[in-house]
Amino acid sequence: AEYSVVIPAAGSGTRMGAEGNKLFLQLNGEPLITHTLKLFQEDPWCSSVVLAAKPEEFEQFYTIIEEKKLNKVQTLIAGGADRQESVHNGLKVIKEETVILIHDGARPLVTEALIHHVVEQAEQAGAALLAVPLKDTIKRAYNNKVVETVDREQLWAAQTPQGFRLSLIREAHDKADRLNYKATDDASLVEWLGQPVRIVKSDYRNIKVTTPEDLIIAEHFMIGRES
Ligand code: C5P
Repeated sequence: AEYSVVIPAAGSGTRMGAEGNKLFLQLNGEPLITHTLKLFQEDPWCSSVVLAAKPEEFEQFYTIIEEKKLNKVQTLIAGGADRQESVHNGLKVIKEETVILIHDGARPLVTEALIHHVVEQAEQAGAALLAVPLKDTIKRAYNNKVVETVDREQLWAAQTPQGFRLSLIREAHDKADRLNYKATDDASLVEWLGQPVRIVKSDYRNIKVTTPEDLIIAEHFMIGRES
């Protein structure tokens, strides 16, 4: 069950309130992105990593790749104006017809077991993603006035990795690009094609480091896992 993974890492630290890319922030003694890249480097199922980065940050990524001997990172490509474009650029350089995973650089806490579940489900169903049931009560509001309380029963919070047959995710991204259809994850584009997408129940610890408190939470989960 081999796979290649595209890792979008070309964001900025806007919501983090950080200067520059949050993926270079230190987490438990190493840059955030180093943790994410090591996961795939160490996974025997992973054959190659395509990293989408901002050209002005290529040097910083090369330094990490060399220092940590991350030889599965075979391609460093230019990201785009948004996450979707970064992933699309990454998909263009993948050659082998295998399962493709797409994983946020900012999710350093996923486990090999979860990755493998996604790969297996993507092979079977064509598309699969990690997700967790929502824990909060969800309100839809307009101008701070509640419009409705949404039934939580059927709601999941989407995570990454998300896995796809290469031909399917290519078709979805190419079409979305042509028609300028935008979504915040890749599975949405496959849903938009009308193709089935399977959910793999994930772990609440697989957080995306987005705002400053997430760094503290991620560090705690990481320390907890090592001991
Ligand atoms: O901002 P957010 O954390 O939701 O971004 C998710 C992932 O997408 C991050 O790893 C970020 O680096 C990446 N990204 C990208 N290109 C962009 C914007 C975000 O690769 N233009």
